[in-house]
Amino acid sequence: MDMKEAMKARHMVRKYTGRTIPADIVDRLNKRVRINNEQHGLFIRLMTNDKTAIPGVIRLILAKGVNNYFIMAGSDGADELCGYCGADLMLYAQTLGLNTWWVGGTYNRKGAQQKTEGAKPVGIIAVGYGQTQGIPHKTKTAEQVSSYAGEAPQWFKDGIEAALLAPTALAKQAFTISGTDNKVSISCDNGIFTGVDTGLVKYHFELGAGKDNFEWE
Ligand SMILES: Cc1cc2nc3c(=O)[nH]c(=O)nc-3n(C[C@H](O)[C@H](O)[C@H](O)COP(=O)(O)O)c2cc1C
Repeated sequence: MDMKEAMKARHMVRKYTGRTIPADIVDRLNKRVRINNEQHGLFIRLMTNDKTAIPGVIRLILAKGVNNYFIMAGSDGADELCGYCGADLMLYAQTLGLNTWWVGGTYNRKGAQQKTEGAKPVGIIAVGYGQTQGIPHKTKTAEQVSSYAGEAPQWFKDGIEAALLAPTALAKQAFTISGTDNKVSISCDNGIFTGVDTGLVKYHFELGAGKDNFEWE
């Protein structure tokens, strides 16, 4: 499975089998974390065999077997970058046969904060072997979230199709993407999750459209 296929296969999974992630896969995930941190100046950290990410009450009703997770952290205002790099990690994990779940609200924020040496966590991403593969989220249409000045080129259409596959908080898809020639802009309004959503959607758009075909403005 490549990263593009992973966009279609990835869905939120909140219940995991508890199966340990093999050491060679953990190594690959850690390498990907390192690359993202180096390229974007973040403080993402992968925690394995650690059951403390999800508070007990949520574990009882919603989540099962969350034993591994990425802490998505950076300096103040790094929300969009965390979303962007989070998308990379979620899709990369999917290509390795794993499932994921972005948790921006219902996680143990204090516990995460103690592990990030002062960097600010904006959420965690649970990762592991899902009890199921999840189901596709309810989606808006391309017309509802995008516009292009004139006839939209294929790369723009492909980008929007990919953007609609991105996870967003509460599955709101509260973004609009506009294109003129090879210039593309995005606006998003999803309250405290606006920055993270923007990064997740941008990563997906780039993967679908092809980075060389356009520039963000
Ligand atoms: C920024 C952000 C925050 C989220 N916070 C939570 C959360 O606190 N609890 C939860 O159960 N799911 C949370 N989710 C998961 C979303 O509900 C899920 O990604 C969305 O419904 C879309 O489904 P999909 O991931 O299958 O595409 C969050 C997702 C994002 C992107």
